[in-house]
Amino acid sequence: MARILAVGIATLDIVCQLDTYPPEDAKLRANDRRITRGGNAANTLCVLGQLGHDCCWAGTVASDPAAADVLADLEYHGIDTSACRKYPLGCTPTSYVWRCLDTGSRTIVHYRDLPEYDSADFERIPLAGFDWLHFEGRNVEETARMMAHAAATRPDLPRSLEVEKYRPGIEALFEEATVLVFSRDYAGHAGFSSPEALVAAFGTRCPGASVVCTWGDQGAWGCAFGERPFHIPAFTPERIVDTLGAGDTFNAGLIDGLVGGRTLTDAVTQACRLAGRKCGQEGFRLT
Ligand code: FRU
Repeated sequence: MARILAVGIATLDIVCQLDTYPPEDAKLRANDRRITRGGNAANTLCVLGQLGHDCCWAGTVASDPAAADVLADLEYHGIDTSACRKYPLGCTPTSYVWRCLDTGSRTIVHYRDLPEYDSADFERIPLAGFDWLHFEGRNVEETARMMAHAAATRPDLPRSLEVEKYRPGIEALFEEATVLVFSRDYAGHAGFSSPEALVAAFGTRCPGASVVCTWGDQGAWGCAFGERPFHIPAFTPERIVDTLGAGDTFNAGLIDGLVGGRTLTDAVTQACRLAGRKCGQEGFRLT
């Protein structure tokens, strides 16, 4: 069992299930609706907790009624929320999600007015005793400070960074990470012609780092520093049920593998398998 700290968001997810993606200006009925706690870092920790790790979340919460539900859900999953920062203003970040049965796609419209977690709060967390740090690639300036602080105070501590979206200046974070997980979306924005080209490029540009790029139903590519890129195909379930949070689940599988001492190839294989299993079921109850 490892002690894992993740910095990122926790959200309220309002998920409507539709047969197919609606045309613009349509009026239609959903055939199911669920309201749950979401958020990349929070989802990843919920899966890591089920894999037996001791998890701690660093993020911000609002003071509205939904915030109490978010915190209660994290605590129900055994996640330590003592490092979170509560704000008196703003509402719980909310995602409106259209989950379509015909393609398995999930379209997310996210609203937030809550400040993000900052480095002043992060620097108050005692890092002694943690085995792994995970960051979402958002709020670039503050995240750069947090990662630099972690690297200076606990240089031995692995630092994974999820690069889900292109954000101005995000490249500044890459050199502070020991494991980089890029998305297909980022690869497109950064002009890479293929996931293999991305992992090969960053595998050389980021000394010492392990680089991974996820590619939906095609699986993931990886490159350990100084080695050749490899590809692990997706473990596609018989029926795609719910892809919301598949990437977050992948990250949990990857961290679990690496913190347990597996090779990058084995950890990516495990991550693909876990993400595939998640796509075949609703929600994140994976054990
Ligand atoms: C899924 C997810 C949702 C959340 C959204 C935030 O990856 O974490 O749970 O609402 O993404 O971007």
